Amino acid sequence: MLVTGASGFLGWNICREAGKKWDLHGTVFSNPAEVPGVNIVRTDLTDLKAFKKVFNDIRPDAVIHTAAATSPNYCQEHPDDTKKINVDAAVNLAGLCADRKIPFVFTSTDLVFDGLNAPYNEEAPACPVNIYGEQKVMAEEGVLKRYPLAAVCRMPLMFGEPATAASGFFLAMIKALKDGDELHLFVDEFRTPVSGQTAAQGLLIALDKASGLLHLGGKERISRFNFGILMMDVLNVSEARLVRCVQKEMKMSAPRPPDLSLDSSRAFALGYDPLPLIEQLKECLEDRI
Ligand SMILES: NC(=O)c1ccc[n+]([C@@H]2O[C@H](COP(=O)([O-])OP(=O)(O)OC[C@H]3O[C@@H](n4cnc5c(N)ncnc54)[C@H](OP(=O)(O)O)[C@@H]3O)[C@@H](O)[C@H]2O)c1
Repeated sequence: MLVTGASGFLGWNICREAGKKWDLHGTVFSNPAEVPGVNIVRTDLTDLKAFKKVFNDIRPDAVIHTAAATSPNYCQEHPDDTKKINVDAAVNLAGLCADRKIPFVFTSTDLVFDGLNAPYNEEAPACPVNIYGEQKVMAEEGVLKRYPLAAVCRMPLMFGEPATAASGFFLAMIKALKDGDELHLFVDEFRTPVSGQTAAQGLLIALDKASGLLHLGGKERISRFNFGILMMDVLNVSEARLVRCVQKEMKMSAPRPPDLSLDSSRAFALGYDPLPLIEQLKECLEDRI
């Protein structure tokens, strides 16, 4: 299997999970990633000619595509540049998989919605409020047009250890909670989060069983603030200083939808079965408690 974005949060988690069943090849771009048992290839997915060579050398039997420009604020400020990886590369890769008739999973996002009519199932019309969401909608449509058998998985907020030790909101939250630093968290922003490991399990189910749109949210809707409380409980830190804040207090380039809770019943019926959030958090934090 080829996993693009093996140096990223989700790609790294997929490699760890899929290694039990597959021989793995993973692509990286600017960051090194070492995943035991994975053949790592450095490539720029926006360079189609170079990537085609990589693809034809590997001759994968399946592909999960996670590589993307994932910061909504960065996409808002660099729409043309980020379209190359977020839209064009995804559609091109769908085409390569269609030509070889191999399973292809594309990772999209809950940010294809505006956050005003949650929970969202797969029938809900896409209505993005920022450039990143618009790019993902374009990619979803382009992928499914080029390869109708592809699975387009909309991912929720994900948490857990990142591939590179220096990155990720989760590590920043752990540090602030443990150090007793003020942690400002939205009380009016809701998501249906899952751990990276749970998300990876969902994507492997999608690879086997799904085509078309599939939501891979968790079973619990929670605000960022209450997620912080849950982390505090699991880490057992009494010195933590959570501060309630609301979205409009924070100025950001990309607008933030308030409630992106996903209805993932379709995936649950296929066997995707996220554990209660507190159990997933305990698994992620067991080395830090
Ligand atoms: N994390 C979340 O909470 C979340 C929520 C919803 C949806 N998603 C979606 O899930 C997927 C994975 O997200 P993530 O959080 O794992 O992202 P991430 O940690 O930011 O990783 C992005 C990956 O893309 C690679 N990449 C970027 N530009 C590239 C290029 N031009 N050529 C080749 N590779 C390139 C990066 O490589 P280098 O690091 O080596 O440069 C990295 O491996 C994305 O499709 C994202 O939209 C994520």
